[in-house]
Amino acid sequence: MLDVDPGHDDAVAIMLACGATELEVRAVTTVAGNVPLEKTTRNALRVLTFLGCSEIPVAAGAGAPLERQLVTAEHVHGQSGLDGVKLPEPGFEPDGRGALRLMAEVVRGSSEPVALIPTGPLTNVAAFLRECPELRSGVERVVLMGGSHGPGNTTPAAEFNAYVDPEAARAVFRSGLPVTMVGLDVTRKAVAGPGELQALRNLGRVGNAAADLASYGFGGSAGSGPIHDAVAVAAVVEPGLLETRPAYVDVECEGGITCDETVCDFAGVAGEPPNAGVGLDLDPERFFELLYRSLKNLQEAGSGPAS
Ligand code: RIB
Ligand code: CA
Repeated sequence: MLDVDPGHDDAVAIMLACGATELEVRAVTTVAGNVPLEKTTRNALRVLTFLGCSEIPVAAGAGAPLERQLVTAEHVHGQSGLDGVKLPEPGFEPDGRGALRLMAEVVRGSSEPVALIPTGPLTNVAAFLRECPELRSGVERVVLMGGSHGPGNTTPAAEFNAYVDPEAARAVFRSGLPVTMVGLDVTRKAVAGPGELQALRNLGRVGNAAADLASYGFGGSAGSGPIHDAVAVAAVVEPGLLETRPAYVDVECEGGITCDETVCDFAGVAGEPPNAGVGLDLDPERFFELLYRSLKNLQEAGSGPAS
């Protein structure tokens, strides 16, 4: 299950997940983050409509963080959340069950534990784990895009997803579930140059849309920004893709300049056992090869209406 706040890189993550034969996308839930919930939900529907994957249920979740005021990122993703990219209007409606009920029913109905792949603020995931503690055993792992062992991207210390809802992030790291933190330390390496963008465009309609998404705000052909969220999906598809190291991760929810920082204790000096595998390195070439393969699968499936 994906929990997303599209957002350009979330959209590429959805594409990669839908095209990867190793994954079965059971549901997509949406959260407020890059843009408000109504827009992230509409955008998730648009991407799945474009891919011809309208059989995947999309359900809206939290419109605001657990405790904080919502902070959005229209300056990055535009007013719509997917500015600059031609995608169809939604071809189907959100699932009326809402995110938490959909998450619960997918986990309850699954014959094997389900991987959660959040790529936005962790509000929905924290609320699901709080409301349905009996279903934790049905969650195989949480592979999240968020946090940073090194510098942040929203403040000197905080990465955006952790910044928007640090209380939710702290709850997920303290949940006791197997967590992989796919943070800025690795996602900053998932940047397309002109060659990667051209390789995407050569794939056809789907690859061209992915290139438009990745390069939005970066000039269209010169290169892209970090395709953060797609790295979290890729890490599930290809476990060896990331170099990770066990650490005790906690989130600073008070403080001043370090507020919302994901603090990673690799040495155990806090006296706490590791609660996450923290991504430390990524092979960008392997990442893009995986992205091409997944998008090629979608292209060859010929699914989806023209944009
Ligand atoms: O810091 C990067 C993260 O924040 C990505 O998930 C991006 O989509 C935004 O949500
Ligand atoms: Ca995101």
